This record gives sequence, structure tokens and C-alpha cells, in this order.
Amino acid sequence: MQPNQKSESMIDQIRETADFLKKKTGLSPEAGIVLGSGLGGLVDEIEVSHTIPYKEIPNFLKSTVEGHAGKFIFGKLGGKQVVAMQGRFHYYEGYPMQKVTFPIRVMKLLGVHTLFVSNAAGGLNPAFETGDLMIIRDHINHFPEHPLRGPNLDEFGTRFPEMSEVYCKKLIGKAKRIASENKIKFQTGVYIGSPGPTLETPAEYKMFRIWGADSTGMSTVPEVIVARHSGMRCFGISVITNLTEPSEMEKPTTHEEVQEVAGQAAKKMTVIFKSLIEEL
Ligand code: HPA
Repeated sequence: MQPNQKSESMIDQIRETADFLKKKTGLSPEAGIVLGSGLGGLVDEIEVSHTIPYKEIPNFLKSTVEGHAGKFIFGKLGGKQVVAMQGRFHYYEGYPMQKVTFPIRVMKLLGVHTLFVSNAAGGLNPAFETGDLMIIRDHINHFPEHPLRGPNLDEFGTRFPEMSEVYCKKLIGKAKRIASENKIKFQTGVYIGSPGPTLETPAEYKMFRIWGADSTGMSTVPEVIVARHSGMRCFGISVITNLTEPSEMEKPTTHEEVQEVAGQAAKKMTVIFKSLIEEL
């Protein structure tokens, strides 16, 4: 297949999916939310009007990970129309990056101008504690495949997007105020996204820390790159589910633990996302 053919069919697929959702819901959400592993609790705060399983959406993939329910949820949060992804697609599931980030472009065509992302992450900064929220101020892309590689989709954005302020400083400022007003402890830092599915070795965690990262996980970066490419504002939170200092690594981290810690912290994250959306 020629690279250009691929881009044509990708655009057609994104349009077809967006048209399907527009027809089905009649809605044009202004905020998109991506819920990370164990963070689906935010959905309880949405006045849901439509729940659409990914398997019913044309051109969508099935989410294969436990704890990722795999649905698009349309409704109102903080008085605004939103669309939330309960369950996302990960590179480690075997999907190409264009498919991992496909829903973000669909959101763009639905009218989403601000993207809220969340993830469960390992804490690299020694000051962090399990259950902390980290407001993402920047990221490092450590995935082997770039989501914008290949023919540029000019309909969405430019060939060489600049990345000087990926996470909106204004939203970060507001989030800090909201957290303080609600007595929610927060950290701020840099997230490094890497392919997984293995968690890191002690030497890898140490390397990420030396590179300047404060948290690490297997998602978020591709979605945010594609969102920025299309001009969306982005805001992100890492929930620190495990600590990665050598002394903390004596007891290995399990997926169940990650889910459990994330589930508890989801309530605090929900307060911040909801208040930010209210103020959009
Ligand atoms: N590494 C990568 N991904 C993760 C981690 C981690 O330590 N914790 C939760 N997701």
C-alpha cells in the first residue's frame, strides 16, 4: 500500500466514525476526557445521555485490557457537553499508533476543543507518595513509533507541530487553585510514556529519573501529541499508583494494586476535572 493511500483511508474512516456518532447522539461535545486504568469512576458524575460500546462504533478497536471497559460516554459534566473514553487503546496491545490515537481525531471532528487525559503511573520523583495526583506539566515521548509519522493529515494540523506548551499553562494554574480550594494534595511534573507492557527494571526507572521525568506510564503521550497537532488544549493528571525507588521495589507492583490505588484517587481527580470543565 502507498503511504498516501493510507492517509486517504484514515481520513475517510475518521469522518465516517464521527458522522456515525453525530447521527446517533445529535451532540457536539466541547470537552473530551480519556480515563486511565482504574479511573473510570469519573463517569458516575456525568449525566449520561448515551453510552456506546467501542465494538458498536465503526472503525474502532476493541479495548483488551482488564479494567478498561471500552465505551464512549456522552453526557453533561460541570454543565458542559462532554465525551469520555472509558478505556483507551494502548500501543502494547499491538495497535499501530494511528489506531491508538484514532478516537482523539474523532473527538476533534465532533467539536471537542479541550482534552482531559488521565493515567495510572509509577512515581519516579522520590518526594511522591502512593495515591498522589500529579498535574502533568510536560512529557517525554519514549515510544518507538510516532503517532504523526507518515503522510500529514493537513485537515487536522501542520506537518511540524511545535511543542513548547503541550499542557495548557492556564488550565494548570486553574487546576492548582481548584486542588488547593478542595484541600487536595497535588504534585506537578513530567510524565514519560513508554511502550510497556513490562513495568520498568530498577535501572530503567533510574534512567527515566535522570532524564527528568517524575512519573511513567504506557499511554497519554500519543493521544496528547495528536490532540495538540489538531490544536486542542490539553490537561493531564497522573495518579501515582506505585513508587519506583530501589527500596520500594522490594515488593513488586501488580496490576491489581495499580487498579486499587487508582480507584481511590479517582475521586480527587474527578473534582479537578469537573471544576475545570465547569470553568471552560
Ligand atoms: N510503569 C509503567 N506503567 C505504569 C506503572 C509503572 O511503574 N505504574 C502504573 N502504570
